[in-house]
Amino acid sequence: MNISDNYMPVILDTILADTIVGCDLYIQNFVNGEIRYILYCNGTNTIRSEKIEELQKHKIEMLFIHKEDQNKYLKYVESSLKNIIRDNRINIIEKAQVVYQVAKNIMLDVFNDPRSGIHVYRAKNLIEATIDMIITNKNASLAIINILSFDYYTYSHSVNVAILGLLFSKYLGIKFEELNVLGTGLLFHDIGKTQIESEIINKKEKLNEKEFTRIKMHVELGANILTKVRDIDDVSLFPVRQHHEKCNGKGYPNRLQGDDIHKFGKIASIIDVYDALTTRRSYADAKKPFSALNIMKNEMEGSFDDELFTKFILFLGQRSEK
Ligand SMILES: [Fe+2]
Repeated sequence: MNISDNYMPVILDTILADTIVGCDLYIQNFVNGEIRYILYCNGTNTIRSEKIEELQKHKIEMLFIHKEDQNKYLKYVESSLKNIIRDNRINIIEKAQVVYQVAKNIMLDVFNDPRSGIHVYRAKNLIEATIDMIITNKNASLAIINILSFDYYTYSHSVNVAILGLLFSKYLGIKFEELNVLGTGLLFHDIGKTQIESEIINKKEKLNEKEFTRIKMHVELGANILTKVRDIDDVSLFPVRQHHEKCNGKGYPNRLQGDDIHKFGKIASIIDVYDALTTRRSYADAKKPFSALNIMKNEMEGSFDDELFTKFILFLGQRSEK
């Protein structure tokens, strides 16, 4: 095993002066053509501004951490996410990567302990930071969409849906104040899956009728969890309750039709299906954007709000031209 397999890079600008990072920081060095990692700051010590300036003076942009310390680093970064997003020295791709890693880490915790008020609070902070990043960066869409994971896990799917949904909603001109409640709802849209037996969730073969009836319950179960959590706006529940409703009335749980589905429910349903199609599943390869949209248009006709679906196609087209 190569020594570099045990370390991973972190962006120097995500480390703030006079803070305790919580994990050891290394600099990478080459000695006789071999990679070496030299301890630069002990994780329990405060990293002084002089130490950071020293690195900047030598044009060092990356530090390294032990791979097993990734969670500690992500917790540290999470606490200063808003500062990182406002930091002009960090480019949008790096910001997007940091936000995405932190988001996945938070959602792993949420899915392990869905009733924890602390994790919900962390998730809401994350949504605020993500919106900040989207609003303050004109070209955020392309950079962010490109880093979304192609592998399907419920937690990464949740992050993808929230981020893609927020970008699309910004494109639609949805007001800033509304983005917060929408983003929270999108992030939690599948939280009810934590209450469904993992054998059903992870089943590779087609579900039988009984299993399908069971899995459909994730919608109401998710809404139930969230109604018991303080600080969740009622409007955030629309993406949760309605992301499997279809405009033609063939969805679940309530077979709602057309405008009986809230706009946020309609957005959630488009993004949910699109992300499921464009990520790799145990039973299917990831589809390319064009073929995913084709399937949605031809094989799922009537499922989506026509106007929103057309705008979604334009939104994706617009970003690929850039
Ligand atoms: Fe779902």
